[in-house]
Amino acid sequence: MSLLAVENLEVRFDTADGEVCAVNDVSFSVEPGETLGIVGESGSGKSQVFFAVMGLLAANGRARGKVRFRDTDLLGMPVSQLNTIRGAHLSMIFQDPMTSLNPYLRVSKQMTEVLVQHQHKSEQDARRIAIELLERVQIPEAARRFDQYPHEFSGGMRQRVMIAMALLCQPDLLIADEPTTALDVTVQAQILDLLAQLRDTLNTAIILISHDFGVVAGLCERVAVMYAGRIVETAPVREIFYRPQHPYTRGLLQSLPRLDADDHQELPTIPGQPPNLQSLGEGCAFSERCPLVQPHCLTDRPLLRQIAEDHSKACHRDLAA
Ligand SMILES: Nc1ncnc2c1ncn2[C@@H]1O[C@H](COP(=O)(O)OP(=O)(O)OP(=O)(O)O)[C@@H](O)[C@H]1O
Ligand code: SF4
Ligand SMILES: [Mg+2]
Repeated sequence: MSLLAVENLEVRFDTADGEVCAVNDVSFSVEPGETLGIVGESGSGKSQVFFAVMGLLAANGRARGKVRFRDTDLLGMPVSQLNTIRGAHLSMIFQDPMTSLNPYLRVSKQMTEVLVQHQHKSEQDARRIAIELLERVQIPEAARRFDQYPHEFSGGMRQRVMIAMALLCQPDLLIADEPTTALDVTVQAQILDLLAQLRDTLNTAIILISHDFGVVAGLCERVAVMYAGRIVETAPVREIFYRPQHPYTRGLLQSLPRLDADDHQELPTIPGQPPNLQSLGEGCAFSERCPLVQPHCLTDRPLLRQIAEDHSKACHRDLAA
């Protein structure tokens, strides 16, 4: 049985200008210990998929479809019940560390509270476990810094505190939403190493959300590429890198900086803008930007179809390898 199975997930937001279709017919699964990367431009729906999974959509949002964690259906579950799963088995590191760290509470208080409430640990045990975790995420002088407030930590250190918090209850699945954006390259690499160690030592399954293919390639076995709220291609990382089969994925890969590139050479970007999620038409959502568009792309929406073992794409055309 998969650890997480998402089927035909849709997320809609009601706004004053009409309905926003942020996530459209998304299906995927994650096995125990697996690492899955979710890639796509800003606004493609990456975060909303997992806010729906975690039951954390904004008040104007609603989700439809199926989200199963092991054999438990998460969508529509009462918050009290969801809280027991979220705390103990399923954790998320958010894009902005300050959304999950309370600026007015010492880190020690925020960490021990979880252990005391969810796992009924004594205050003393909770302190010991939390400090060990901070050491594990390589916070220098963890015991001394434990009683500091979040603003006393640098950006990179705060991100580590968040990872430590997400690991307090040893989750089976860790969802990391852009955990390294806004950090410098060295800290970025350290945090990715840390996630890889956690996967290897604790067998934690990890979903890594990023707009950066390079970051995902460093950690993940499999990738799902999102565009306009849909998965448009999914395959093992190496397959996507060497044999991308969707024109959007090809465009994303071409806009990756190359080590052998001349510093002054401009990176190609995909021309045009993502479509308006309030008025998605009948055809392929990428058609306005696609160099390979054909007339029927404008009228028939391509569904995700298998094109090789463990490789699927949503595009009408077969591209040369
Ligand atoms: N509360 C809301 N009301 C209306 N639209 C929303 C709301 N929250 C998100 N959206 C829209 O849903 C779409 C998908 O957003 P999402 O946050 O999932 O993007 P993303 O892929 O995570 O982007 P980024 O890389 O910038 O984080 C966006 O167009 C966004 O504007
Ligand atoms: S379906 Fe057509 S428009 Fe869409 S990505 Fe494929 S070729 Fe391009
Ligand atoms: Mg996001």
